[in-house]
This record gives sequence, C-alpha cells and structure tokens, in this order.
Amino acid sequence: MPDAPQPLNRKIEDLARNHLPRNLTHITTQQGTGVEDDANSLKAGVRGPTLLEDFILREKITHFDHERIPERVVHARGAAAHGYFEAYDDLSPITAAHFLGEAGRRTPVFVRFSTVAGSRGSADTVRDVRGFAVKFYTEQGNFDLVGNNIPVFFIQDAMKFPDLVHAVKPEPHNEIPQAQSAHDTFWDFVSLTPESLHMIMWTMSDRAIPRSYRMMEGFGVHTFRLVNAQGQTTLVKFHWKPQLGVHGMAWDEAQKLNGKDPDFHRRDLWEAIETGQFPEWELGLQLLTEAEAEELDIDVLDPTKIIPEELVPVTRVGRLVLDRNPENFFAETEQVAFHPGHVVPGIDFSNDPLLQGRLFSYTDTQLLRLGGPNFAQLPINRPVCPFHHHQRDGLGQHQIPLGKVAYAPSSLDTGAPAHLGALPDGYRSFPEPLSGHKLRGKPERFADHYSQARLFYASLTLPEQRHLRDALVFELSHVTAVHVRERMVQHLQRIDAGLCNGVARPLGLLCPDEDCGTGPSPAS
Ligand code: HEM
Repeated sequence: MPDAPQPLNRKIEDLARNHLPRNLTHITTQQGTGVEDDANSLKAGVRGPTLLEDFILREKITHFDHERIPERVVHARGAAAHGYFEAYDDLSPITAAHFLGEAGRRTPVFVRFSTVAGSRGSADTVRDVRGFAVKFYTEQGNFDLVGNNIPVFFIQDAMKFPDLVHAVKPEPHNEIPQAQSAHDTFWDFVSLTPESLHMIMWTMSDRAIPRSYRMMEGFGVHTFRLVNAQGQTTLVKFHWKPQLGVHGMAWDEAQKLNGKDPDFHRRDLWEAIETGQFPEWELGLQLLTEAEAEELDIDVLDPTKIIPEELVPVTRVGRLVLDRNPENFFAETEQVAFHPGHVVPGIDFSNDPLLQGRLFSYTDTQLLRLGGPNFAQLPINRPVCPFHHHQRDGLGQHQIPLGKVAYAPSSLDTGAPAHLGALPDGYRSFPEPLSGHKLRGKPERFADHYSQARLFYASLTLPEQRHLRDALVFELSHVTAVHVRERMVQHLQRIDAGLCNGVARPLGLLCPDEDCGTGPSPAS
C-alpha cells in the first residue's frame, strides 16, 4: 500500500464535485421518485402482459439501451491514470507556459495509454504503436501532449491518414484480422508508401510489444514551438523518459498473454498505482533554433524523421508521476477528449503537414463520439482555471450561462467577459512570416525514406535485430499476395542487405541485386 495518502490535486477536487451521493438508502428514478420494486415489472395480473405505463421499467431499459457510445476511430483501447507534473526549473526564458514557469511547480495531469488499431475489447499485448496522451490542467487552460511511444510516424501528410488506418484496421469484407496478425492490406499500403519504412523498423522491433505502459518512452513526434513572453521562439521536440527504463516482451510471451490475460497492461498500470509503485517519467526537450534546424540533413517538419539526440541533446525539465487510478472508467478514461490543438500561451505549432491535419481531426471526431458540441464541459475535460465564452446552447449543455449577453462587444452588460487583448494570458499565435504558392506536394528533404530506417536498425543490439527480423518474417508470412512480399523485400534490401537476406530466405524469396542502391527512394 502507498506510504501515505497523496494530497489531492486541483483536478481531483474538481472531479469530486461530480460524485453521486452515496448516502441514499433506496433507489429512485432519474426524477428522484422512490422505487418500490426494482425487480418486477408492472403487469396486468402476475401472468399478464406488461403495462406500457410502467415508467420505472421503461426508464431502466431505455437508459441501458443507450449505454454505449462510439469507440474512438483509432486508439479505442486504453487505460488511464491521474497524477501531476513537476517542473525542475523556471523555463520562462524560452516559454510563457505557466506550468514550466517555476521550479517545483506542480500541475495536475490525466494520462491515457492506448493501442492504435484494435477495438475497445482487443488484447493489450499486441504488436502495435502505443498512444501516450497527457492532459495538463494548467492555470492557463488545458495543454494536451498527444503523443506515441515511437518518435516517428508512418506518413508525412494528414491526407494519407484515412488510407493508413483503413489499411491497418480489419479488412472491411470480413472484419478480420486484428493488429496481432499481419494482413495483406497493411503490407500492401506500406510497400507502396516507402515513407513508412522508418516507422516500420520501430514497429517490428521490441518497442511495439512493451513490457508495461510504465516502461515505455513517449514522444510528441512533431516539431512544436515554444514562445516566450517577449515573442522569441525555439523549436522543440517533446520526449518522455521512463524512470523504469524501456523494456519489451518476447513475441512468444506477448502472444501467449493475448490469450491468457488480454488486460495485462491495464492491470499492470492499475496494480502499480494501487500498491504505491507510482509510475514516473521525465519530460525531455530537444531545443533548437530555426537556423540550427536549417543546418540539419532532415526537415524538422517531416514526422517520419527523428532529430538524433547526438545532434540535439534531450534536456530534462520536469517529472510526471501517476499516483491515482480513475474512479470511473467511462466517465474519465472513455470520455476524456485529447487534442493536439489544445495549447496554452508559450506553446505553438509547426507547419508539419501531419500535425496540421490532426488539428482538424480531433474535435471533429469528438463531436460525433461524445455527442455534440459541449463535451468540453464533461468533468474530465473541463479546465481547472476559470473559463468563460459566448458559445451557447447545443446538445449536452450542462451549464447555466447567466444574463442576456452572449456576444462581444457589448455595452449592455459590463460584467460580460471580453477578450484578453495584449494581457500575458491571451493566446497569441507566433507571427511566423509566410508566403508561398498554393500547391500540393512536399519538400525535397522529405524524400529520403531509407537512411533513418538503416540508422535505427544499426542502433539495435544483435538480439534486438534478430527479434526485428523474426517479426518481419512472421508478419510477411501472413501476407498472401506474393508481389507484396517481394516489394517489401526490395525495400529491405535498401535498408540493410543482411536484414533483407534474413527475411527473404525463410519466405522462399531472393533479395534483389545488392547493387540496387541504398540512396533516396524515388519521390513517393
Ligand atoms: C487518437 C486522428 C496522428 C496520437 C486519435 C483519434 C483520431 C486521431 C480521430 C481519436 C480521438 C478521439 O476519439 O478522442 C489522427 C490523425 C492523424 C493522427 C488524423 C494524422 C493525420 C497521430 C499521431 C500521433 C497520434 C502522429 C502521435 C504523435 C494519438 C493518440 C490518440 C489519438 C495518443 C488517443 C488519445 C486518447 O488516449 O484518447 N487520433 N491521429 N495520432 N491519436 Fe491520432
């Protein structure tokens, strides 16, 4: 058990305001009417038909009929916990973000880990990317760092996201298979989308079968901007470094657990927190100026590339501690709405075309998933700082805005809120100078799809390389289309000849001529 009860944080106190009272001794209807009998419906005689007037039965059944909401279109399966973030230093020289503004400052957080491809009821230990989404309830509003446990992504442009997800999800005609076994559509898409190869190296490695959520790194993936109170900007990549180190499972172990204990990761997180083994990560920042970014071989707007830590070191700026399990899975873990566009003063976006598309997607999907435009009022989603706006009405309005003024400017109600103007907490986008022709396409530096895949493979130990090779053999052996297998083998040849041979031979294929080149791929 924990040594001492943890102090409440502001978000936990805020959530407690929504607890249903537990001191009633009897059941009532939603309207508060006492229920005499909750087990037998109202009938015309004990053997007669049930009467339509039975409002108690109708209400009970109707509510049950509406218990399910759509699962997330991706990242449907997850587990979450409350905790806090504690800053090590005052970072106000580089960001106006309040939660990074003082050594020792604590900010409540809610963190949800997830798998990407499986449905809500799928198993935990599948080979997949893991989501690592952190909601900081700051004094300036909510900041969501919606990341993954892998530092790069499959695609460079949001336009391809629906294609990627359609390729990875169960096939539409028969709804099989799920993420744990390979299938034609995914490898077909990947083999025709060489920008995904770097991410494929990560997902075929032990990183994609973590031992525990507590033993994973986290990454913001995209380049973001920090902006200080004077309007000066620094580019940033976000990292989470687990106190317990990074550990994977053996594939065989993971597969067995899928059957024996499909809730393995969920249970591991829950039990660690219940027994006081609070999971902990450090927040790391890779900081660079725009001039330094220009000097790199890669484009920092390309989400399929890392900035090697040897070139830009990771500075650790604070720690994240998860010390409290949710009280209600649905109200908290299921209804939480993360969004990479939830930013606070001092944090801004880059023009990464994947990030830019994400900024549209999350609210759009949550309007459907959480039933209308007022889901920010849900207890888990509302900020701990004061908030007030002139948005009104809509499905699920749970607040009672006062007065007759729901617009600005107004001279009728001098108490109605107006915008903050130049005050420090008013969010002001970084005034990046922009000009360009209106076109589709991508920068030249986005074209090299092999170098970092090779770099990652070369960074692994021999057993890790063997695991990666075996994973590719396993996955590709489940692909029925031979031309798709062959195309994948051709890509592997451009990454590493040894890897190519090691995968091709068990599949009964030959690696293409070794001279076929290891340079940049043709633009995809
Ligand atoms: C969840 C879209 C790329 C991390 C989601 C959801 C959507 C979505 C629609 C479900 C949200 C909900 O129902 O609440 C997209 C699109 C992407 C993209 C359109 C690319 C264009 C990424 C990337 C990352 C990421 C690159 C990691 C850096 C997550 C996480 C969740 C999520 C962690 C789960 C959040 C939670 O726990 O509720 N994404 N995503 N996504 N996405 Fe993305």
